[in-house]
Amino acid sequence: MTQAQPIGVFDSGHGGLTILAALQQRLPDQHFLYLGDHAAAPYGERTPEEIYARTQAAVELLFALDCRLVILACNTAAAVAMRRLQQGWLARTHPTRRVLGVLAPMVEALSGRAWTGGQPLPWHRRTARSVAVFATRRTVESGAYPREVAARAPSVLVDQEPCPGLAGAIERDLAQGALADMVQDAIQRLLARHPSEPPQAAVLGCTHYPLVADAFAAALPAGVRLLSQPNVVAESLERYLARHPRFHSGTGEPRFLTTGDAPRVSALAGRFLGWSARFSGVP
Ligand code: DGL
Repeated sequence: MTQAQPIGVFDSGHGGLTILAALQQRLPDQHFLYLGDHAAAPYGERTPEEIYARTQAAVELLFALDCRLVILACNTAAAVAMRRLQQGWLARTHPTRRVLGVLAPMVEALSGRAWTGGQPLPWHRRTARSVAVFATRRTVESGAYPREVAARAPSVLVDQEPCPGLAGAIERDLAQGALADMVQDAIQRLLARHPSEPPQAAVLGCTHYPLVADAFAAALPAGVRLLSQPNVVAESLERYLARHPRFHSGTGEPRFLTTGDAPRVSALAGRFLGWSARFSGVP
């Protein structure tokens, strides 16, 4: 099969590569086109209006490059822009194309219930009654995680903690020690609100944060389960493609585009992920 219609994967910068890695592992027969808006990262400190406008422009570009299905591999974009994109613009301008996010699959995993319709999902056994979500300021302010989990599973308590500056610091390749300090601070702030009983599970609700997953794992109290958003998203896309075979892309090597400085972005991506991703500038 040709590589004519790749599945688009979009993030503000490097974070979505953590999702892409899981997608490629789970769905090796699909062809992905990654777009990082490195010129505008981090999104977490931008206004909702800016996030919406940049996300819409990115999706438009991926559609123009023949993607029929685009994954917003960015919690901030999904939390802030997804509903507006899907409810108005997408149906009006691209009725046959689809945009999926990373937030809905994670909410399904936390609640054990379907995003649409709310029916119980046999493949998600809900095991945590209390969950900590670490995310960007804008994702936290959107209230999307606690609201959407509560709508499906009111007994699951979701507490959120913003990690201001962390995604930007990862993009700038700050030293590991400094990144670990930022992680530790966020965890301490959250734990201070739960002195007698820490949450049972934690979600890294920003796709950049798995790049410092070791720092989270080291600083969280023993027994707190760290749930993997990349794996949850990859499993969810596999099920989606089984239900909607028309979005299968066919095989092909992944391609990487950036709005930023391609050589610098390529070098950093290789360091973070341990595999080489050669970025080109956007056409
Ligand atoms: N990686 C994105 C997220 O999942 C955005 C981080 C940022 O650009 O601030 O939220």
